[in-house]
Amino acid sequence: MSVKNKKILLIIGGGIAAYKSLDLIRLLKKNNNDVKAILTDSGKEFVTPLSITTLTKNKTFENLFDKNSEADIDHISLSRWADIIVVLPTTANFMTKLSLGKAEDLATTVILASNKDILLVPAMNVRMWIHKATQKNVKILQDYGYLFLGPEKGEMACGEYGEGKMASPRQIFSYLGNYFNKKDLFKKKRIKALVTAGPTREYLDPVRYISNESSGKQGYEIAHALNRLGIKTTLITGPSNLISKKEIKTKKIISANEMFEAVKKCLPVDIAICAAAVADFKPIIKSKTKIKKDNIKCKSIELERNRDIVEFLGKNNKHRPSLVIGFAAETENLNKNAFSKLRQKNCDLIVVNDISKKDSGLNSDYNRVSIIDNSGKIKVIKKNKKSFIANAIAEIVLDKFLINDRSFN
Ligand code: CTP
Repeated sequence: MSVKNKKILLIIGGGIAAYKSLDLIRLLKKNNNDVKAILTDSGKEFVTPLSITTLTKNKTFENLFDKNSEADIDHISLSRWADIIVVLPTTANFMTKLSLGKAEDLATTVILASNKDILLVPAMNVRMWIHKATQKNVKILQDYGYLFLGPEKGEMACGEYGEGKMASPRQIFSYLGNYFNKKDLFKKKRIKALVTAGPTREYLDPVRYISNESSGKQGYEIAHALNRLGIKTTLITGPSNLISKKEIKTKKIISANEMFEAVKKCLPVDIAICAAAVADFKPIIKSKTKIKKDNIKCKSIELERNRDIVEFLGKNNKHRPSLVIGFAAETENLNKNAFSKLRQKNCDLIVVNDISKKDSGLNSDYNRVSIIDNSGKIKVIKKNKKSFIANAIAEIVLDKFLINDRSFN
């Protein structure tokens, strides 16, 4: 797949693979893309500004404090101009700077100030790549939402063999083709999604409520992942300390009933992902004033069922989204219970997590899930940051949505 008519900002780092950036520029230019490049100080040891300018037909950007273009404020204007930023080669040192959020030169400052997706294309010696420090940085950067391509296995410039070789210009070019193809398609088709997140609160009186431990993190991350893929996303969230990106329309609610009403208002949508831990029951009576201990005559609270939101969506005759995805919070017989929920609520996919595990799931930064489709096929995603799980879910969702096929291939 090729990429055409886009604005690509390259950040060329300090590694021998920097010379391949010249081939990538040629490929991009041949396909009518506009290319600008920032050359880091160490990048200059491998390629020259002159060769880059000759190929991009644009000035090569080098300094954070450039007297000749100060009026443009390059570190802001470059990222606003670009459709995507590609860092190649991404060195181990550069990843450390990004994971620390440094802004010490033009390249790191552009990235920190960016409102665009950033694709990192690492290249380094195999030992550097598999070092715990580098792998920790990879996880941090994935959590920040950076995209990765490679590295590949192969023979390296230093003569050693292993994982660390940079993806080829052709591979980068087709990755970008794929990336824009998906994004443009969803934009063109005006695909809309709704995501529910967080807990709900069911009040007994003005200060006391029934709720659960959900932080909302998985749902927020899913909304961000969908938004990154060009899908117009509405997030309907119960009480949570999290902040969503301003491009995501966010509706805050408190109770399950309010969540249900907000979901109804949001219809029609193409994709619904219900990650919220909605309370199944609410107290039949909600006292307007604080319940005093002396006034309590009985020792039990009478409850009634809340509407099941995902079931309402899955069985909706008028506005059923093309893709309805439920979650299943389970402590035993995970897949079996989840699959019967999928059937009961007429979902297309169900994402099951084991909430008995202390190191993942509810109120944790991590999750481990299995995704089950309506034919019973299971895809396991091992323990990872919720942002990683969200991206994996978004990718599956989107592939399925694109091919309009509801079973895994
Ligand atoms: N759900 C919902 N509305 C409710 C209850 C649950 O939309 N009133 C959704 C959740 O957002 C999730 C799915 O249903 O996508 C499963 O939720 P879960 O709590 O795992 O299961 P329940 O259906 O509530 O069943 P149980 O508590 O008996 O396991």
